[in-house]
Order: sequence, then structure tokens, then C-alpha cells
Amino acid sequence: MGSAAEEHRKEANQLQRQCGSSRKWKLKMILLVILTNLVTIYIFTGPSFNLKYLSAYTHNLPLPLTSSDHSTSLFNQLNSTTTQLVASQSLIAELHETLNSTNLLVQSLLIELARQQEEQQSKDDQLSESIKVDNDELISAIGPHKLPLGHSPRTGSNEVYPSVGAGCLRFQEELAQYMKYEIGGECPVDDVFAQRLMLKGCEPLPRRRCHPKSPANYKEPTPFPDSLWTTPPDSSIIWDPYTCKSYQCLVNRKKLPGFYDCKDCFDLKGRERSRWVVDNGRLDYGIDQVLKTKPPGTIRIGLDIGGGSGTFAARMRERNVTIITSTMNLDGPFNSFIASRGLIPIHVSVSERLPFFENTLDIVHSMHVLSNWIPDTMLEFTLYDIYRVLRPGGIFWLDHFFCYGSQLNGTYIPMLDRIGFKKLRWNAGMKHDRGFDRNEWYFSALLEKPMT
Ligand SMILES: *[C@@H]1O[C@H](CO)[C@@H](O)[C@H](O)[C@H]1NC(C)=O
Ligand SMILES: *[C@@H]1O[C@H](CO)[C@@H](O)[C@H](O)[C@H]1NC(C)=O
Ligand SMILES: *[C@@H]1O[C@H](CO)[C@@H](O)[C@H](O)[C@H]1NC(C)=O
Ligand SMILES: *[C@@H]1O[C@H](CO)[C@@H](O)[C@H](O)[C@H]1NC(C)=O
Repeated sequence: MGSAAEEHRKEANQLQRQCGSSRKWKLKMILLVILTNLVTIYIFTGPSFNLKYLSAYTHNLPLPLTSSDHSTSLFNQLNSTTTQLVASQSLIAELHETLNSTNLLVQSLLIELARQQEEQQSKDDQLSESIKVDNDELISAIGPHKLPLGHSPRTGSNEVYPSVGAGCLRFQEELAQYMKYEIGGECPVDDVFAQRLMLKGCEPLPRRRCHPKSPANYKEPTPFPDSLWTTPPDSSIIWDPYTCKSYQCLVNRKKLPGFYDCKDCFDLKGRERSRWVVDNGRLDYGIDQVLKTKPPGTIRIGLDIGGGSGTFAARMRERNVTIITSTMNLDGPFNSFIASRGLIPIHVSVSERLPFFENTLDIVHSMHVLSNWIPDTMLEFTLYDIYRVLRPGGIFWLDHFFCYGSQLNGTYIPMLDRIGFKKLRWNAGMKHDRGFDRNEWYFSALLEKPMT
């Protein structure tokens, strides 16, 4: 009986492993309750029956008898034993019946489990169907795809789902347009459109099977370390999506009216040269001063969030610190430019969870990007994420965070405290070079993730 229960438990476990939903967990709990009852029946009925039988037997053992009532006593004993045997047999039959009905119950539960698994499958299919767009490549980009070697204990499933931003499904018309391309052919040149989709939460993007167009006269890049401060040739990229068609145009843009993201970032002979070199004791911190807050050589790897044309990473590279620069291509080919300098760009938005494991980075820097344009909850996600990826003792250099005076004390200082950063340095002040009204503030901060 025990081994039968074991058998069912195994079967149930196997089925459980194949499905994942909480409803199935509930079913498993019911199953466990039944099995527990089964064991209880066994404990209370099985052995007690044996005891009864034994006691009946011993009580009625032929005792020393007198010769006169010898046969009568023997008969009575026999009669009593027979009666008890009959009772025991009916008990066994009853037990069998209970076991049988429990068996049936377990069987029907297993059938129910299988049915629910099928239901989940059909829900997955419905997800694909809820994409109203008739586009096989899109269906294929979303998955699921059956694992060729079957069930994987790592994922607890026999299928995989490519990671695609949930936001993709909210903008189905754009998505359909984005996914219209020839598989194995050349990708459409639609960077601005694609990036807009990304910024709406369709990140990562689902286009997977085409070749990006190569620039017409691409040459080998400038060798390192000269590449750090060399403007790449115009032939290194495709200018299609931009209003400018040359790097010189991007450099000159700083003199033009109108708002462009990181307007003067492409001029490697201009302001880029002096950034983070001098520490003015106020909002502008110097890289060397920041590195000195830690034992020499212990700041080795890090991330610059929204790092423009990569100058922070270049300066850090000169100090043997490896910085990955995240940047969008807003109004300019920032990713290509950073890569041409021999630095590492990653094309992820500030909404995306950082693609680093916890407690790994020595430093995270961000200038201008994290500011009051970000909804508070989203900003809190980002700040927690920075805390997560920093190693204990790692440094978050929040550089020129822009906000209104009331937000400084009302929102952002409490938020940073809540997340748990320790302030190593803090400077707040109004910046006069922008000609905004007097309630507009910046703050710069060196924040440390506590060691413990
Ligand atoms: C055996 O015992 C039962 C009760 O214990 C009694 O009803 C029955 O008459 C007895 N049979 C004989 C043959 O004595
Ligand atoms: C158990 O149930 C099945 C189907 O109802 C029946 O055929 C079988 O005889 C039952 N066995 C016992 C021991 O009651
Ligand atoms: C960087 O590393 C190189 C090679 O180890 C070394 O020669 C150089 O002095 C280092 N530069 C700095 C600024 O530490
Ligand atoms: C924030 O609070 C501090 C301390 O209470 C105060 O000195 C400072 O003036 C406040 N800043 C702003 C911008 O209101």
C-alpha cells in the first residue's frame, strides 16, 4: 500500500514538474491531502487490524484445560476464532473498497491535472492569436519554440520563449510594420521608428532574421588609443535616419538653435575635452578626485547610463577603468560613434532592467539623463537597479541631476535615502548657465552602496 502511494506521488510529481501554474499547485495540494488520508487509513486501520487479529489469537490460545470440558472449551475457542476471522475478512474487504475509491479519486485528479496543462497550452496559443496581425515572423519571434531535446529541468518546461518586450504587444500596428521584412534579406533602415518602439517598452525588439545594411565605403577603424579622440570617417555609418549627413554637421549643430540631445557631444575638440578633468568643488566633480575616494585600482569596471558620445568611458579608459556606455541614438548616431572610439556602447533605454548581475560593478555614472522627466516610480526602479548591480562599496556618481527646488527635499533626497545609498559627497545648487527661472536646481552626488 505504501509503495502504491509512493507510485502515485511520483506520478503526481512528474506531472507537476511539467506544468507551472499556481492552480496546478493547488491541485497538487489536494492530491497530497488525499495521499495523506490514504496513509492515515493505513496507519489506523491496517496495523490495528493486525493487532486485533493477534490479540484474538493469543487470548484464545489453548490454555491448560480440565479434562471434563476439554472439547467444549476447544469448540468455543474455535467458534470465537472463526467469528473474529469473519469480522477481519469483512474489514479487509472494506479496506479494499476504500483503497479502490481513493485510487479512482487519484486517477481522476491526474486526469484533471493533464486537462489543466492542456488548457494552459491553449492559453499560450491564444496569446499568439491575440496578436491580430497576420505575420508569421512575429509569431515566430514571440514563440514558444519546442526544445529539441525535450523537457529542460533548468527552465522547468519543454519550450522556450524568446525574450521580447511586453510593450511590443501594445502597439500592434507599428509592430506589424516593424516585422515586415524579408527573412535572410536586408533589414529595412528604420532606426528612428525602431527606437520609438523601443522607448514605448518594446525592448528588446523582436526583429531577428535580417542583415543590417552596411555603410557603402566602410574602412577599418582608427587603431587604439588614437581612436579615443578621433572623429570617425563619415563613411563609417549610414546617415539615413538623421537630419545631419556628416559628423561635421553634428559638430556644428551646437551652434544651431533648437533642442538636440547631447548637442555638443560630437565635438571631440570642444567641451568634451574638459569634461570631468577639473573638479570645481561644486557640481562638477573630477574623475581623479572621485577615483581617490576608493583604494587605488579598486574601481575597475562600470557603467555610464546615457553616456552620450562616450567621453566618460574614454577618460576612464585612460585610467585603465573599463566603462560600458548605454545610449540611445536620439538625434544622432551615438552608438556607432562610441564604438568607433574603441569603447563599448549598449543600446538599451533607461527603462530596461540593467543587464548585469547583482553586486558586480565598481561604479555607475550618469549625467543629465536621470532627472525629473522620469516618472517617480520608474526612477525608483532605475535607482534600485543601480544599487543592485553595484558591488558592496561600489560608487554611484549621480552627475547633474536636474529638478525643481521643492522636488529636491520633497522627493529625491528621501528617495535616495530610502534606497539605502550612503552619501560620500553631495552638492546642490542652481546652475546659471541655462537661464531658467530661479527655482531650477541641480545636484551632483557620490553615493556609496554600503559594504554590508
Ligand atoms: C458460536 O458463537 C456465536 C456467538 O459468539 C453463537 O451465536 C453461535 O451460536 C455459536 N455457535 C455454536 C455452534 O455454538
Ligand atoms: C474497484 O473498482 C472497480 C471499478 O469500479 C471494480 O471493477 C473492482 O471490482 C473494484 N475492486 C474492489 C476490490 O472493490
Ligand atoms: C594602465 O595600465 C597600463 C598597463 O598595465 C600601465 O602601463 C599604465 O601605467 C596604466 N595607466 C594608469 C593611468 O594607471
Ligand atoms: C532643503 O532642505 C535643507 C535642510 O532642511 C535646506 O537647507 C535647503 O534650503 C532645502 N533646499 C531647497 C531647495 O529647498
